[in-house]
Amino acid sequence: MTKTLLPEHTDNLKLNEVPILAVKVPLKMKTTWIPCCLSILFFKAGSASPLEKRPNFVLMMVDDLGIGDLGCYGNTTLRTPNIDKLAQEGVKLTQHIAAAPLCTPSRAAFLTGRYPIRSGMVGQGRLGVYVISAASGGLPNQEVTFAKIAKQQGYKTALIGKWHLGLNCEWSNDHCHHPSVHGFDHFYGITMTNLRDCQTGHGTVFVNVLAHIPYRALGVGVATVALLHVRGVVPIRRRLALCLAALVGVAAASFTMFVLTFPNLNCFLMRNQDIVEQPYVSENLTQRMTREAVEFLERNSERPFLLFLSFIQVHTALFASPRFQGTSQHGLYGDAVHEVDWSVGQIMQTLNRLSVSENTLLYLTSDQGAHLEEISVRGEVHRGWNGIYKAGKSTNWEGGIRVPGVLRWSGTLPAGKLIDEPTSNMDIFPTVVKLAGASTPGDRIIDGHDLLPLLQGRVKRSRHEFLFHYCNAYLNAVRWCPPDSHSVWKAFFFTPNFYPENGTGCFHTHACFCTPEYVTYHDPPLLFDLSRDPSETTPLTADSEPAFHAVLEEIRVAVERHTGSVVPVLSQMTPGKLVWKPWLQPCCSSLAQLCRCERDSQRSISTPPQEQPTS
Ligand SMILES: *[C@@H]1O[C@H](CO)[C@@H](O)[C@H](O)[C@H]1NC(C)=O
Repeated sequence: MTKTLLPEHTDNLKLNEVPILAVKVPLKMKTTWIPCCLSILFFKAGSASPLEKRPNFVLMMVDDLGIGDLGCYGNTTLRTPNIDKLAQEGVKLTQHIAAAPLCTPSRAAFLTGRYPIRSGMVGQGRLGVYVISAASGGLPNQEVTFAKIAKQQGYKTALIGKWHLGLNCEWSNDHCHHPSVHGFDHFYGITMTNLRDCQTGHGTVFVNVLAHIPYRALGVGVATVALLHVRGVVPIRRRLALCLAALVGVAAASFTMFVLTFPNLNCFLMRNQDIVEQPYVSENLTQRMTREAVEFLERNSERPFLLFLSFIQVHTALFASPRFQGTSQHGLYGDAVHEVDWSVGQIMQTLNRLSVSENTLLYLTSDQGAHLEEISVRGEVHRGWNGIYKAGKSTNWEGGIRVPGVLRWSGTLPAGKLIDEPTSNMDIFPTVVKLAGASTPGDRIIDGHDLLPLLQGRVKRSRHEFLFHYCNAYLNAVRWCPPDSHSVWKAFFFTPNFYPENGTGCFHTHACFCTPEYVTYHDPPLLFDLSRDPSETTPLTADSEPAFHAVLEEIRVAVERHTGSVVPVLSQMTPGKLVWKPWLQPCCSSLAQLCRCERDSQRSISTPPQEQPTS
């Protein structure tokens, strides 16, 4: 069993270079070690000509952006000229797949090049992301991010924007999961996610908690007991009744306290190890992040740099600075997209001004599909658009995982090229590592593949024959792209139950869950061929598809191989690692002052910096 797994592993461990050396060198030069070593050096240098360029990296991730929100992916009403230009000047991926349909696991996979189940960054219950800053889970130390490797290779690295991969382990400022532990020299942004609760007037996501309380059952229970009591069937002591009422009161008060204090305790901005604003003022956050990014580029344009610009938008609570408010036909959501696009333009202009454009690989993506259930407290549409793809964030229907993927590296990558092969956000890890002149770690499975051969057209087919789509810790679906055909098979082992039944969203719970009460299991699995049915409308059957059983059998074998390769690790999302631990609470002032402070040097930015005159 383990033996048959080995070839899979070694393939993943990127041994494709090593065996060439191991075989070729001893045959040619058996006698001495010196020429042998020299030839290794020579071989490495010779085969590594693209490596000599060692590009800079600007990796941009927009939160919850739908693939259908961008002009270059077919949107005609939102204006995204800068991102469209990036696509025109580079490569556009049309089957770019997020490793998970939720922020925390998707970002863990992006940074490490591995399925998040391998790092323990997946929930087992309903919750699949961190929602409380004083929780103890986070990206484990032994995981290797592309930032860590780039830093070792002499790059200056920065994360600006959202992290969402934990902060502390044992006390309130041990910062064991802080971006600096994972290779980022500079950090300016939020360790959590921007939630509705972070902005006054946007309501709370936790009303959804209330939606889970079985009010009717409780009401019927209380009424029955009261009736039995009045009739004298079941005498209830006064004291017991009072106790129960007090318990309900305490629970209600705690919940109210939680919601009221949430912004102060969880919506804070950090610069490196310090909290600089708590709670943060949202309105000009995209401006502040942009200014910080531009300054980072200015400081580091003379040396290799890697910037991960992780936009806080367009996740709710939505915001846009005054210049962008009212600029779109799609409310605040569209305005926020416009501002993100402006920010991308600022980055592109800055690279030009600093004359590093040609030597910088730019990447733009989203961490998952648009979140369809986002309707604001006032009933406004605060969600994005996933185009022709079904459903959205928190599901493994295509709308949840098929994300924009644009890469530009002028002079090295073709311009205006479209690639429809399956690629993953996990591919950025090996791509960056290789271009930075390093090798991927040999002691673990890396699930991503170097994108460069595909982007440059040196190979036609993606190395992702299979992609595994997880819903939290549960294997939800598998995609199979056989090398000898253009079919894109996708088999679901379960699918989320939609509420209301006729829509493709989980409006009742605000997001879809993966636990048994919320899904329908399929045996045989629901099978689609995305090459014929990209919107996943009609499951195939043995009657409609002659290859039905053969395809499912291939997938079954692949699943067995894959699950056999997943080594059990400590989960970072057990209830104990998700809950509030008061002793971990980050707080920039005394608790009595309610954890408030305003000392961010970028705070005063109110209007966009002047555009650079184009020469
Ligand atoms: C463009 O995006 C907006 C906002 O997400 C969406 O409402 C609209 O339907 C999209 N338009 C097209 C033509 O795709």
